[in-house]
Amino acid sequence: MWLSCSSVGRKFVMALTGACLVLFVTFHCVMNAVAICWPAAYNSICEFLGANWYALIASVGLAFLFIVHIIYALMLTVQNRKARGNVRYSIEKRPAGVEWASKNMLVLGIVVLAFLVVHLIQFWAKMQLQEIRGVEAAIPPAAGTLFIQEAFSLVWTPIVYIIGFIALWFHMNHGFWSMFQSCGWDNEIWIARLKKIGCWWTTIVIALFVAQAIVFTVKAHDKDYLKDPVLREQYKDMIPAMIEKDFGPDAAQLGNQIRMSPYEQVSMGIRQMEQGIRSQAEQMSSPEAKEYLKNNPAAAEQLEELQVRSESLGRVVAFFDYLEASDNQPEPEMNAIPNANPHK
Ligand code: HEM
Repeated sequence: MWLSCSSVGRKFVMALTGACLVLFVTFHCVMNAVAICWPAAYNSICEFLGANWYALIASVGLAFLFIVHIIYALMLTVQNRKARGNVRYSIEKRPAGVEWASKNMLVLGIVVLAFLVVHLIQFWAKMQLQEIRGVEAAIPPAAGTLFIQEAFSLVWTPIVYIIGFIALWFHMNHGFWSMFQSCGWDNEIWIARLKKIGCWWTTIVIALFVAQAIVFTVKAHDKDYLKDPVLREQYKDMIPAMIEKDFGPDAAQLGNQIRMSPYEQVSMGIRQMEQGIRSQAEQMSSPEAKEYLKNNPAAAEQLEELQVRSESLGRVVAFFDYLEASDNQPEPEMNAIPNANPHK
Protein backbone atom coordinates (compact mmCIF):
# COMPACT_ATOMS: atom_id res chain seq x y z
CA MET A 1 0.00 0.00 0.00
CA TRP A 2 2.83 2.36 0.92
CA LEU A 3 4.27 1.90 -2.56
CA SER A 4 1.09 3.04 -4.30
CA CYS A 5 -0.52 5.46 -1.81
CA SER A 6 2.27 7.63 -0.46
CA SER A 7 4.17 10.12 -2.58
CA VAL A 8 7.52 8.74 -1.33
CA GLY A 9 6.41 5.18 -2.17
CA ARG A 10 5.39 6.18 -5.69
CA LYS A 11 8.70 7.98 -6.27
CA PHE A 12 10.52 4.91 -5.02
CA VAL A 13 8.68 2.71 -7.54
CA MET A 14 9.48 5.22 -10.30
CA ALA A 15 13.15 5.14 -9.28
CA LEU A 16 13.33 1.33 -9.09
CA THR A 17 11.61 0.74 -12.44
CA GLY A 18 13.62 3.60 -13.97
CA ALA A 19 16.89 2.01 -12.80
CA CYS A 20 15.92 -1.32 -14.38
CA LEU A 21 14.96 0.45 -17.63
CA VAL A 22 18.31 2.29 -17.71
CA LEU A 23 20.05 -1.09 -17.39
CA PHE A 24 17.86 -2.55 -20.16
CA VAL A 25 18.57 0.37 -22.51
CA THR A 26 22.32 0.00 -21.84
CA PHE A 27 22.19 -3.75 -22.47
CA HIS A 28 20.17 -3.14 -25.66
CA CYS A 29 22.81 -0.70 -26.88
CA VAL A 30 25.51 -3.35 -26.36
CA MET A 31 23.38 -5.90 -28.28
CA ASN A 32 23.08 -3.46 -31.20
CA ALA A 33 26.86 -3.07 -31.16
CA VAL A 34 27.07 -6.85 -31.64
CA ALA A 35 24.82 -6.45 -34.71
CA ILE A 36 27.36 -4.05 -36.16
CA CYS A 37 30.58 -5.88 -35.24
CA TRP A 38 29.38 -9.48 -35.66
CA PRO A 39 26.06 -9.56 -37.53
CA ALA A 40 26.09 -13.37 -37.73
CA ALA A 41 26.56 -13.63 -33.94
CA TYR A 42 23.67 -11.19 -33.52
CA ASN A 43 21.39 -13.46 -35.57
CA SER A 44 22.52 -16.45 -33.50
CA ILE A 45 21.50 -14.56 -30.34
CA CYS A 46 18.11 -13.71 -31.91
CA GLU A 47 17.67 -17.40 -32.75
CA PHE A 48 18.71 -18.50 -29.25
CA LEU A 49 16.29 -16.07 -27.59
CA GLY A 50 13.38 -16.24 -30.04
CA ALA A 51 10.13 -17.04 -28.23
CA ASN A 52 11.77 -19.46 -25.78
CA TRP A 53 10.51 -19.44 -22.20
CA TYR A 54 13.49 -17.48 -20.85
CA ALA A 55 13.09 -14.77 -23.52
CA LEU A 56 9.33 -14.63 -22.87
CA ILE A 57 9.86 -14.21 -19.12
CA ALA A 58 12.33 -11.37 -19.82
CA SER A 59 9.91 -9.68 -22.26
CA VAL A 60 6.96 -9.94 -19.84
CA GLY A 61 9.16 -8.56 -17.02
CA LEU A 62 10.27 -5.70 -19.25
CA ALA A 63 6.71 -4.88 -20.32
CA PHE A 64 5.71 -4.90 -16.64
CA LEU A 65 8.51 -2.41 -15.81
CA PHE A 66 7.49 -0.08 -18.64
CA ILE A 67 3.79 -0.23 -17.68
CA VAL A 68 4.41 0.37 -13.96
CA HIS A 69 6.83 3.22 -14.78
CA ILE A 70 4.25 4.89 -17.05
CA ILE A 71 1.27 4.42 -14.67
CA TYR A 72 3.21 5.80 -11.71
CA ALA A 73 4.48 8.73 -13.81
CA LEU A 74 0.86 9.64 -14.60
CA MET A 75 -0.17 9.23 -10.93
CA LEU A 76 2.67 11.49 -9.74
CA THR A 77 1.90 14.14 -12.38
CA VAL A 78 -1.78 14.26 -11.39
CA GLN A 79 -0.79 14.40 -7.69
CA ASN A 80 1.68 17.27 -8.33
CA ARG A 81 -0.81 19.25 -10.35
CA LYS A 82 -3.46 18.85 -7.66
CA ALA A 83 -0.99 19.99 -5.00
CA ARG A 84 -0.04 23.07 -7.04
CA GLY A 85 -3.63 23.84 -8.05
CA ASN A 86 -3.72 26.23 -11.00
CA VAL A 87 -0.25 27.56 -10.29
CA ARG A 88 1.99 26.04 -12.93
CA TYR A 89 5.54 27.10 -13.55
CA SER A 90 5.83 29.50 -16.40
CA ILE A 91 9.13 30.03 -18.17
CA GLU A 92 9.69 33.33 -16.34
CA LYS A 93 8.78 32.05 -12.90
CA ARG A 94 10.74 28.81 -13.04
CA PRO A 95 12.78 28.54 -9.84
CA ALA A 96 16.54 28.64 -10.25
CA GLY A 97 18.12 25.20 -10.52
CA VAL A 98 14.99 23.49 -11.86
CA GLU A 99 16.13 21.91 -15.11
CA TRP A 100 14.14 22.07 -18.30
CA ALA A 101 14.01 18.25 -18.43
CA SER A 102 12.62 17.96 -14.90
CA LYS A 103 9.65 20.14 -15.89
CA ASN A 104 9.07 18.15 -19.06
CA MET A 105 9.62 14.56 -17.96
CA LEU A 106 6.05 13.57 -18.88
CA VAL A 107 6.23 15.08 -22.39
CA LEU A 108 9.69 13.54 -22.92
CA GLY A 109 8.35 10.21 -21.69
CA ILE A 110 5.44 10.44 -24.16
CA VAL A 111 7.86 11.10 -27.06
CA VAL A 112 9.99 8.10 -25.97
CA LEU A 113 6.81 6.00 -25.74
CA ALA A 114 5.71 7.06 -29.24
CA PHE A 115 9.16 6.08 -30.55
CA LEU A 116 8.87 2.77 -28.70
CA VAL A 117 5.51 1.96 -30.31
CA VAL A 118 6.96 2.52 -33.81
CA HIS A 119 10.06 0.54 -32.82
CA LEU A 120 8.13 -2.44 -31.46
CA ILE A 121 5.97 -2.55 -34.61
CA GLN A 122 9.13 -2.61 -36.74
CA PHE A 123 10.97 -5.27 -34.74
CA TRP A 124 9.32 -7.09 -31.85
CA ALA A 125 5.98 -7.57 -33.65
CA LYS A 126 7.77 -9.16 -36.62
CA MET A 127 10.17 -11.26 -34.56
CA GLN A 128 9.10 -12.55 -31.16
CA LEU A 129 5.37 -11.91 -31.64
CA GLN A 130 5.36 -13.78 -34.99
CA GLU A 131 6.99 -16.74 -33.28
CA ILE A 132 4.50 -16.66 -30.40
CA ARG A 133 1.61 -16.58 -32.89
CA GLY A 134 3.20 -19.35 -34.96
CA VAL A 135 2.64 -17.34 -38.15
CA GLU A 136 4.66 -18.32 -41.23
CA ALA A 137 6.26 -15.00 -42.08
CA ALA A 138 8.16 -14.02 -45.22
CA ILE A 139 11.38 -13.48 -43.20
CA PRO A 140 12.37 -15.99 -40.49
CA PRO A 141 12.12 -14.31 -37.04
CA ALA A 142 15.73 -15.30 -36.25
CA ALA A 143 17.08 -13.15 -39.10
CA GLY A 144 17.50 -10.01 -36.95
CA THR A 145 19.78 -8.34 -39.51
CA LEU A 146 17.06 -8.58 -42.17
CA PHE A 147 14.62 -6.70 -39.93
CA ILE A 148 17.31 -4.04 -39.47
CA GLN A 149 17.64 -4.01 -43.27
CA GLU A 150 13.86 -3.59 -43.67
CA ALA A 151 13.50 -0.86 -41.03
CA PHE A 152 16.51 1.26 -41.89
CA SER A 153 15.96 1.22 -45.64
CA LEU A 154 12.88 3.39 -45.00
CA VAL A 155 13.72 7.10 -45.29
CA TRP A 156 11.78 8.14 -42.18
CA THR A 157 13.24 5.52 -39.80
CA PRO A 158 16.50 7.33 -38.89
CA ILE A 159 14.57 10.60 -38.46
CA VAL A 160 12.04 9.06 -36.04
CA TYR A 161 14.84 7.25 -34.19
CA ILE A 162 16.98 10.38 -33.78
CA ILE A 163 13.96 12.27 -32.35
CA GLY A 164 13.36 9.34 -29.97
CA PHE A 165 17.05 9.28 -28.94
CA ILE A 166 17.09 13.04 -28.20
CA ALA A 167 13.98 12.72 -25.99
CA LEU A 168 15.51 9.64 -24.33
CA TRP A 169 18.74 11.58 -23.62
CA PHE A 170 16.87 14.31 -21.72
CA HIS A 171 14.59 11.79 -19.99
CA MET A 172 17.42 9.48 -18.87
CA ASN A 173 19.83 12.28 -18.02
CA HIS A 174 17.37 13.78 -15.55
CA GLY A 175 15.94 10.44 -14.39
CA PHE A 176 19.39 9.04 -13.59
CA TRP A 177 20.27 11.29 -10.64
CA SER A 178 16.70 12.04 -9.59
CA MET A 179 16.09 8.32 -8.94
CA PHE A 180 18.86 8.43 -6.31
CA GLN A 181 17.30 11.54 -4.80
CA SER A 182 13.90 9.81 -4.72
CA CYS A 183 15.48 7.01 -2.72
CA GLY A 184 16.53 9.50 -0.06
CA TRP A 185 20.05 10.26 -1.28
CA ASP A 186 20.21 13.99 -0.55
CA ASN A 187 23.93 14.55 0.02
CA GLU A 188 24.69 17.57 -2.17
CA ILE A 189 28.24 16.50 -3.04
CA TRP A 190 27.00 13.09 -4.13
CA ILE A 191 24.04 14.47 -6.07
CA ALA A 192 26.49 16.67 -8.02
CA ARG A 193 28.66 13.59 -8.71
CA LEU A 194 25.64 11.49 -9.70
CA LYS A 195 24.54 14.23 -12.11
CA LYS A 196 27.96 14.00 -13.79
CA ILE A 197 27.95 10.18 -13.88
CA GLY A 198 24.37 10.21 -15.23
CA CYS A 199 25.26 12.72 -17.91
CA TRP A 200 28.27 10.67 -19.06
CA TRP A 201 26.36 7.38 -18.97
CA THR A 202 23.38 8.79 -20.89
CA THR A 203 25.55 10.60 -23.42
CA ILE A 204 27.66 7.52 -24.19
CA VAL A 205 24.60 5.27 -24.57
CA ILE A 206 22.67 7.74 -26.73
CA ALA A 207 25.75 8.62 -28.83
CA LEU A 208 26.19 4.89 -29.50
CA PHE A 209 22.51 4.55 -30.48
CA VAL A 210 22.86 7.50 -32.90
CA ALA A 211 26.05 6.02 -34.39
CA GLN A 212 24.33 2.63 -34.72
CA ALA A 213 21.31 4.16 -36.47
CA ILE A 214 23.67 5.86 -38.95
CA VAL A 215 25.65 2.65 -39.62
CA PHE A 216 22.42 0.61 -40.02
CA THR A 217 21.00 3.20 -42.44
CA VAL A 218 24.15 3.18 -44.60
CA LYS A 219 24.35 -0.63 -44.58
CA ALA A 220 20.64 -0.99 -45.34
CA HIS A 221 20.92 1.36 -48.32
CA ASP A 222 23.93 -0.61 -49.59
CA LYS A 223 21.87 -3.81 -49.04
CA ASP A 224 24.78 -5.26 -47.07
CA TYR A 225 22.56 -7.49 -44.93
CA LEU A 226 21.09 -9.07 -48.07
CA LYS A 227 24.33 -9.59 -49.98
CA ASP A 228 26.85 -10.59 -47.31
CA PRO A 229 27.90 -14.19 -48.18
CA VAL A 230 28.39 -15.21 -44.52
CA LEU A 231 24.91 -13.94 -43.63
CA ARG A 232 23.43 -15.65 -46.69
CA GLU A 233 24.82 -18.98 -45.49
CA GLN A 234 23.21 -18.28 -42.12
CA TYR A 235 19.83 -17.34 -43.66
CA LYS A 236 19.99 -20.56 -45.70
CA ASP A 237 20.46 -22.53 -42.47
CA MET A 238 17.19 -21.02 -41.18
CA ILE A 239 15.23 -22.70 -43.98
CA PRO A 240 14.91 -26.16 -42.33
CA ALA A 241 12.94 -24.51 -39.50
CA MET A 242 10.69 -22.82 -42.11
CA ILE A 243 9.68 -26.09 -43.77
CA GLU A 244 9.98 -28.50 -40.83
CA LYS A 245 6.28 -28.52 -40.00
CA ASP A 246 5.13 -29.16 -43.59
CA PHE A 247 7.57 -31.91 -44.59
CA GLY A 248 6.77 -34.37 -41.82
CA PRO A 249 9.16 -37.33 -41.71
CA ASP A 250 11.13 -36.07 -44.75
CA ALA A 251 12.01 -32.81 -42.97
CA ALA A 252 15.11 -34.12 -41.16
CA GLN A 253 16.80 -35.45 -44.32
CA LEU A 254 15.95 -32.37 -46.37
CA GLY A 255 17.11 -30.14 -43.52
CA ASN A 256 20.49 -31.91 -43.38
CA GLN A 257 20.92 -31.60 -47.14
CA ILE A 258 20.19 -27.87 -46.94
CA ARG A 259 22.62 -27.33 -44.08
CA MET A 260 25.41 -29.25 -45.81
CA SER A 261 25.09 -27.55 -49.22
CA PRO A 262 26.28 -24.04 -50.10
CA TYR A 263 23.82 -21.16 -50.49
CA GLU A 264 23.85 -20.99 -54.32
CA GLN A 265 23.18 -24.70 -54.66
CA VAL A 266 20.29 -24.62 -52.17
CA SER A 267 18.77 -21.56 -53.84
CA MET A 268 18.75 -23.38 -57.21
CA GLY A 269 17.75 -26.76 -55.77
CA ILE A 270 14.77 -25.40 -53.81
CA ARG A 271 13.49 -23.52 -56.86
CA GLN A 272 13.62 -26.72 -58.95
CA MET A 273 12.01 -28.76 -56.20
CA GLU A 274 9.22 -26.20 -55.76
CA GLN A 275 8.54 -26.21 -59.52
CA GLY A 276 8.46 -30.01 -59.60
CA ILE A 277 6.09 -30.35 -56.64
CA ARG A 278 3.85 -27.54 -57.89
CA SER A 279 3.45 -29.05 -61.36
CA GLN A 280 2.81 -32.50 -59.82
CA ALA A 281 0.10 -30.99 -57.60
CA GLU A 282 -1.39 -29.13 -60.60
CA GLN A 283 -1.55 -32.33 -62.64
CA MET A 284 -3.24 -34.17 -59.82
CA SER A 285 -5.84 -31.45 -59.38
CA SER A 286 -6.74 -31.26 -63.10
CA PRO A 287 -10.47 -31.74 -63.91
CA GLU A 288 -9.74 -35.24 -65.32
CA ALA A 289 -7.98 -36.33 -62.12
CA LYS A 290 -10.81 -35.06 -59.89
CA GLU A 291 -13.04 -38.08 -60.50
CA TYR A 292 -10.17 -40.45 -59.76
CA LEU A 293 -9.37 -38.60 -56.51
CA LYS A 294 -12.98 -38.87 -55.35
CA ASN A 295 -12.72 -42.65 -55.33
CA ASN A 296 -9.15 -42.82 -54.09
CA PRO A 297 -8.67 -41.32 -50.63
CA ALA A 298 -4.94 -42.19 -50.53
CA ALA A 299 -4.33 -40.17 -53.71
CA ALA A 300 -6.44 -37.30 -52.35
CA GLU A 301 -4.31 -37.31 -49.21
CA GLN A 302 -1.16 -37.30 -51.34
CA LEU A 303 -2.44 -34.29 -53.26
CA GLU A 304 -3.12 -32.43 -50.03
CA GLU A 305 0.42 -33.17 -48.86
CA LEU A 306 1.86 -31.93 -52.17
CA GLN A 307 -0.13 -28.72 -51.91
CA VAL A 308 1.10 -28.07 -48.38
CA ARG A 309 4.71 -28.71 -49.42
CA SER A 310 4.39 -26.60 -52.54
CA GLU A 311 3.06 -23.69 -50.47
CA SER A 312 5.86 -24.13 -47.94
CA LEU A 313 8.55 -24.17 -50.64
CA GLY A 314 6.82 -21.21 -52.30
CA ARG A 315 7.55 -19.22 -49.15
CA VAL A 316 11.21 -20.28 -49.25
CA VAL A 317 11.47 -19.32 -52.94
CA ALA A 318 9.96 -15.91 -52.08
CA PHE A 319 12.62 -15.60 -49.36
CA PHE A 320 15.41 -16.35 -51.86
CA ASP A 321 13.84 -13.90 -54.35
CA TYR A 322 13.88 -11.24 -51.63
CA LEU A 323 17.54 -11.92 -50.78
CA GLU A 324 18.61 -11.96 -54.43
CA ALA A 325 16.44 -9.11 -55.76
CA SER A 326 19.36 -6.69 -55.91
CA ASP A 327 21.91 -9.22 -57.27
CA ASN A 328 21.30 -8.65 -60.95
CA GLN A 329 21.05 -4.90 -60.96
CA PRO A 330 23.37 -3.74 -63.75
CA GLU A 331 26.73 -2.30 -62.71
CA PRO A 332 27.34 1.20 -64.16
CA GLU A 333 28.70 0.87 -67.71
CA MET A 334 32.36 1.74 -68.27
CA ASN A 335 31.66 4.67 -70.60
CA ALA A 336 28.97 5.99 -68.24
CA ILE A 337 31.77 6.79 -65.79
CA PRO A 338 33.72 9.87 -66.93
CA ASN A 339 37.41 9.11 -67.65
CA ALA A 340 36.91 5.43 -66.83
CA ASN A 341 38.63 4.41 -70.07
CA PRO A 342 41.17 7.09 -71.06
CA HIS A 343 42.34 5.15 -74.19
CA LYS A 344 38.95 5.30 -75.86
C1 HEM B 1 19.45 1.84 -33.30
C2 HEM B 1 18.55 1.64 -32.38
C3 HEM B 1 17.83 0.36 -32.08
C4 HEM B 1 17.80 -0.83 -32.78
C5 HEM B 1 18.47 -1.18 -34.10
C6 HEM B 1 16.98 -1.76 -32.03
C7 HEM B 1 16.70 -3.08 -32.39
C8 HEM B 1 15.80 -3.93 -31.76
C9 HEM B 1 15.47 -5.27 -32.15
C10 HEM B 1 16.08 -6.00 -33.37
C11 HEM B 1 14.55 -5.75 -31.30
C12 HEM B 1 13.83 -7.12 -31.37
C13 HEM B 1 14.41 -8.15 -30.48
C14 HEM B 1 13.54 -9.40 -30.47
O1 HEM B 1 12.30 -9.31 -30.42
O2 HEM B 1 14.11 -10.48 -30.51
C15 HEM B 1 14.28 -4.72 -30.33
C16 HEM B 1 13.39 -4.85 -29.28
C17 HEM B 1 13.15 -3.86 -28.36
N1 HEM B 1 13.71 -2.61 -28.30
FE1 HEM B 1 15.11 -1.89 -29.58
N2 HEM B 1 16.52 -1.13 -30.89
C18 HEM B 1 17.01 0.18 -30.89
C19 HEM B 1 16.80 1.14 -29.90
C20 HEM B 1 15.95 1.00 -28.82
C21 HEM B 1 15.74 1.99 -27.77
C22 HEM B 1 16.42 3.36 -27.72
C23 HEM B 1 14.83 1.46 -26.90
C24 HEM B 1 14.27 2.05 -25.63
C25 HEM B 1 13.82 3.24 -25.47
C26 HEM B 1 14.46 0.16 -27.38
C27 HEM B 1 13.55 -0.68 -26.77
C28 HEM B 1 13.21 -1.95 -27.20
C29 HEM B 1 12.26 -2.81 -26.52
C30 HEM B 1 11.48 -2.47 -25.26
C31 HEM B 1 12.23 -4.02 -27.24
C32 HEM B 1 11.40 -5.28 -26.94
C33 HEM B 1 12.27 -6.24 -26.17
C34 HEM B 1 11.58 -7.57 -25.94
O3 HEM B 1 10.58 -7.60 -25.28
O4 HEM B 1 12.08 -8.55 -26.46
N3 HEM B 1 15.17 -0.10 -28.53
N4 HEM B 1 15.06 -3.62 -30.62
